[in-house]
Amino acid sequence: MKNILITGGAGFIGSHVVRLFVKTFTSDHIYNLDALTYAGNLENLKDIESADNYSFIHADIQNLEVLTEIFETNKITHVIHLAAESHVDRSITDPLAFVKTNVLGTANLLQAAKEYWKDEYTDKLFYHVSTDEVYGSLGDTGFFYEDTAYDPRSPYSASKASSDHFVRAYHHTYGLPIVISNCSNNYGPNHFPEKLIPLMINNIIHKKPLPVYGEGLNVRDWLYVIDHARAIECIFSKGENGETYNIGGHNEWTNIDLVHVLCDTMDEKLNRTQGESRKLISYVKDRAGHDLRYAIDATKLKDELGWVPSLQFEEGLRKTIDWYLSNDSWLENVTSGAYAQYYKSMY
Ligand code: NAD
Ligand code: DAU
Repeated sequence: MKNILITGGAGFIGSHVVRLFVKTFTSDHIYNLDALTYAGNLENLKDIESADNYSFIHADIQNLEVLTEIFETNKITHVIHLAAESHVDRSITDPLAFVKTNVLGTANLLQAAKEYWKDEYTDKLFYHVSTDEVYGSLGDTGFFYEDTAYDPRSPYSASKASSDHFVRAYHHTYGLPIVISNCSNNYGPNHFPEKLIPLMINNIIHKKPLPVYGEGLNVRDWLYVIDHARAIECIFSKGENGETYNIGGHNEWTNIDLVHVLCDTMDEKLNRTQGESRKLISYVKDRAGHDLRYAIDATKLKDELGWVPSLQFEEGLRKTIDWYLSNDSWLENVTSGAYAQYYKSMY
């Protein structure tokens, strides 16, 4: 039996991973460790919180002593590490918060695993969830491959790159069994509305301006969050020790084209006149150091482990919009209080 520690399981992607694992690995135990920062929300897991093979642990990965105790008490055999500060704009305002959680927190978790496993690594795994942003920014053509040189350009991506290096260092130096995956932009239910898609959905609902950075020509490669969770399950089950896998949707959109689709789809769903929401678009000051384009080549994951995305973008986007429209209390809860202040300081 595995005791699987998932960090950041109350966040956007983490909550989908926790749900999938609780439902898939019914003979194993899933421990969800989360500090419940502004981005962590146990509402995301209401449907599985009383499952027999699930426990929540309120803890901060910045605290090594607490992590050591958690490994010992729960006899942790496997780690899937998602806990992080995840928003690029916040990393520009407060870079050190990203160093503390993403760099120090990851190093703490590696150290706690190494100490508890005591160099006995049979049936153990440290799975680190990372991002395509570590590879930097592409021009109009080309893709990120697993061996693309790291070139992080924001405090967020620098902190994630650093955490990736620590994970590989523990593998090479101490033999810790690891896998790393680097994924493109996720979207879907439970996405915190500081990120592009849920922020635009929330603002369209409330007929607020839609802040597009610069000229809206930056390109992102979007993947439905449940497909990311499926990829993590696939790599967890079948990935090779020490390997890196890129995950992506082969689904590139300029920000402005994506915002147009959101506007038009929501006009249709909200019975508004076509074109009404597009009038809310407002071009604002560009993000500092704004990466132009990300695009993942996920051939290795497809060829070696057989994973492919299950959803087309248009369908995923419709499902996402429907989720936000029918979960207005979730949206209201996360946008009340501190969010209003964040929004005012940012836009
Ligand atoms: P999120 O911000 O929605 O969730 C992060 C979670 O981590 C929250 O529940 C938060 O409470 C928790 N957390 C933060 N600091 C913590 C700490 N010190 N100790 C314990 N828990 C802490 O993030 P997300 O978008 O779900 O991203 C999850 C992971 O996936 C991150 O590592 C991120 O870098 C990576 N990732 C995200 C995307 C994306 O598009 N969102 C794409 C690729 C990779
Ligand atoms: O590529 C993976 C990464 O994707 C993850 O590692 C990050 O955790 C995740 O936040 C995401 O980073 P981005 O910076 O690409 O996502 P964000 O939603 O913040 O922005 C997407 C694009 O939209 C980007 O080009 C900036 C732009 N944007 C964003 C916001 C919030 C706007 O034009 N206006 C906005 O208000």
